[in-house]
Amino acid sequence: MIDKTVNFKGKKIALCVTGSISAYKSISLASEWTQKGASVHVLLTESAKKFVGKATFEGITHNKVTDSLWDNNSDSNIDHLDISKTADIIAIVPATANIISKIARGACDDIISTTVIATTKPVLIAPAMDGNMYDHFAVKTNIDTLKENGVIIMEPEEGYLASGSFGKGRLQDLGNISNEINRILGIENELKDIKILVSAGGTKEPIDSVRYIGNRSSGKMGHLIAEEGLMRGADVTLVSSSNLVTASKINKISVETAEEMAREIKTRVKDADCIIMAAAVSDFTPEIKVDRKIKKQSGKNLELNLKQTPDILKSIQKNNCIKVGFAAETENHLNNGIDKLKAKNLDMVVINDVSSKKIGFESDYNQVKMITKDGNISSTEIEPKRVIAGKILDELSKIIK
Ligand SMILES: Cc1cc2nc3c(=O)[nH]c(=O)nc-3n(C[C@H](O)[C@H](O)[C@H](O)COP(=O)(O)O)c2cc1C
Repeated sequence: MIDKTVNFKGKKIALCVTGSISAYKSISLASEWTQKGASVHVLLTESAKKFVGKATFEGITHNKVTDSLWDNNSDSNIDHLDISKTADIIAIVPATANIISKIARGACDDIISTTVIATTKPVLIAPAMDGNMYDHFAVKTNIDTLKENGVIIMEPEEGYLASGSFGKGRLQDLGNISNEINRILGIENELKDIKILVSAGGTKEPIDSVRYIGNRSSGKMGHLIAEEGLMRGADVTLVSSSNLVTASKINKISVETAEEMAREIKTRVKDADCIIMAAAVSDFTPEIKVDRKIKKQSGKNLELNLKQTPDILKSIQKNNCIKVGFAAETENHLNNGIDKLKAKNLDMVVINDVSSKKIGFESDYNQVKMITKDGNISSTEIEPKRVIAGKILDELSKIIK
């Protein structure tokens, strides 16, 4: 769904189109963004021109299309440098496996890769390709490299693909791409010099040397909050039990157990202005951890004695630190969230419904209610977790002000 409130007035968007079967969708984006007031400058690779034409984009955007490194139209006569400086954002939609590979390894032999390597502006990439291509180790590695270096990836969706198969590779919903561009363009450095400590992922509590008690938290929400904080100028430390790749400018501390998480948070909270506990920390851990594999004995059950883990948020006594907690609930969401807010002396609680399969754990989508200490309640729709991360930090910024 396209958000009608989105306004791009005065913004310059470099829309880079590459040789994917979904290139036709970029025509709609060029039209929508132009109608919303942006100056859209389209860049085409040679392969993109096999799918979509210059004339269409020039007619829609009223700007000249740049489709070569060598036909320069800018004042400086070096188009890639000109675009890399004047654009407010560079959006590669759709992005082929080929352009992703080029950008990840720093190749610059076409107008798009050369513009990207020259820019300091935000770069958003929306991959689109066949499911097997998207699953290929090289594409995965390249996308991880881009994420580590702060490129915003709009993950493709699962669905019907041009090959006739079903899989993950279809270009992300155009409305979501527009909303993300709008959000990035609106981001200010409002968290500059603020030190944020974020926790993410589900902890693993060892039973023996091979088994553990865990939960379904993927860590996506916490990681996206950390990335969003970085984009808003914060100095971010992320204590995470998740293997997800994160921007290299985030100080990531890897942990596994609730005890390790508690220890790291306790040490690092001393320097933090704000802590956001998005991790799903196990409430219980086996009392005894066996340091070998427990053998199965015929007809015998295994009894586990579980002890409570430390309550990390409750134990933080730092007065000048803003505390944000998450409440993953399956029932009585609002009441349970308010109880948690009070019991742990939080400045804000973020409640999410983990009973729905469409959102929450493991999903790329979430829907939350945020309650602040002074009783303000705000709710989101079901939205991509990156958007939810932005809304959480919007609320946090209000508390900080
Ligand atoms: C009909 C057709 C459809 C294609 N669709 C895609 C696609 O969706 N995604 C992709 O990564 N490559 C796709 N390719 C392959 C790319 O066009 C090819 O790798 C090309 O070199 C990409 O060049 P570029 O990245 O410079 O635009 C397609 C090729 C053909 C012939």
